[in-house]
Amino acid sequence: MSTTIPLQTLVAAPAGSPHPQVPPPVEATPALQASEPVYVTRPSLPPLEEFLPYLEGIWEQGILTNNGPYHRQFEARLAEYLGVQHLSLFANGTLALLTALQALRITGEVITTPYSFVATSHALLWNRLEPVFVDVDPVTLNLDPARIEAAITPRTTAILPVHCYGRPCAVEEIQAIADRHGLKVLYDAAHAFGVEDAGGSILRHGDLSILSLHATKVFNTFEGGAIISPDAETKRHIDNLKNFGFVNETTVVAPGINGKMSEVNAAFGLLQLQHIDRALEARKRLAARYVDGLAGVRGITLVQSDAARRNHAYFPILVGADFPLSREALYAMLKSAGIHARRYFYPLISSFPMYRHLASADPAHLPCATAASESVICLPLYPDLPTPVQDRIIELVATAAMCGAGDARDAA
Ligand SMILES: Cc1ncc(COP(=O)(O)O)c(C=O)c1O
Repeated sequence: MSTTIPLQTLVAAPAGSPHPQVPPPVEATPALQASEPVYVTRPSLPPLEEFLPYLEGIWEQGILTNNGPYHRQFEARLAEYLGVQHLSLFANGTLALLTALQALRITGEVITTPYSFVATSHALLWNRLEPVFVDVDPVTLNLDPARIEAAITPRTTAILPVHCYGRPCAVEEIQAIADRHGLKVLYDAAHAFGVEDAGGSILRHGDLSILSLHATKVFNTFEGGAIISPDAETKRHIDNLKNFGFVNETTVVAPGINGKMSEVNAAFGLLQLQHIDRALEARKRLAARYVDGLAGVRGITLVQSDAARRNHAYFPILVGADFPLSREALYAMLKSAGIHARRYFYPLISSFPMYRHLASADPAHLPCATAASESVICLPLYPDLPTPVQDRIIELVATAAMCGAGDARDAA
């Protein structure tokens, strides 16, 4: 169904935002014309008419927030869908991260990855914690467990790994290190909606996991987030923290925050759950087409997940030294052809001004993260990506591998 709602009124990214840029006003048709700009992602939206009854429900009840009926329903259904027991909804993933660090009373230094979205480390600074950057594994691009122990000091209290692109971290090794040194483990699972390992949801690992339900994510509630707790008591504490620290009408037990998800976002989430399996199937099919088209291309390395259940949140490729174009040249060539891929994650978090003074931020200490950051491009991947557009992207990359930028543009 076609509607005339300008997309940027539905998901607006501020100028310079690291989130994907918003297309200019276009009709919200599922299939973009090849001549229109193609962005790295496009939020999944159900048909508008399906959402109207939910809005009518909110108007009838007059309950807009504060653990209302849609919030309670969505929290329960989302936990069920994800195969976890104790889940707390949040207004966004960043507030979930901030609250998770508060809930576990983390202090001092926290070992984390520089190869992530900047919110991961910013959550530490907002809690007056010191990030200690440890390099990533060159294949998984997740925190390298073999390098964690060397970074532990008497001030270290926690590890904050990221399941980057939805690929599971080395959870067993990380837990073994944490157990040996008495550290907490908080997973930034912002990318890992629906991801499972052989034992079930990846979100069950560690002391807490946080999810982002941002517009750019596999599953979105416009803005949203969640914390997954191991037990009911921890969930109760987190629920109090996200409500200013109130435990009842008159008692405040902690300096909490307003992290609550509104009824509109929760109602939207309930509706999105009806569409998520179809969206994940579409992502899987498109990712397989990219693999078919690009697996043999000289100089391109595909970064693929080994999860038992993947979510195909991103399609990162690494542009090697044996590719005829530099990463920058390939990125620019795609852009000039209307394909707005993204260099996730470039620059490294450790290179931003508020981090680069740290000893652990020295690029010499982070060779694999630096190399990945300088060679990665995430290609457009979202459920409504039209296959002819995807074919054009594949052709642009494959042709560039054989000749060069100008020839690739001419050929595609
Ligand atoms: C790895 C990572 N951590 C944290 C966040 C923050 O989530 P949110 O945008 O929902 O606040 C994001 C997403 O934007 C992310 O990609």
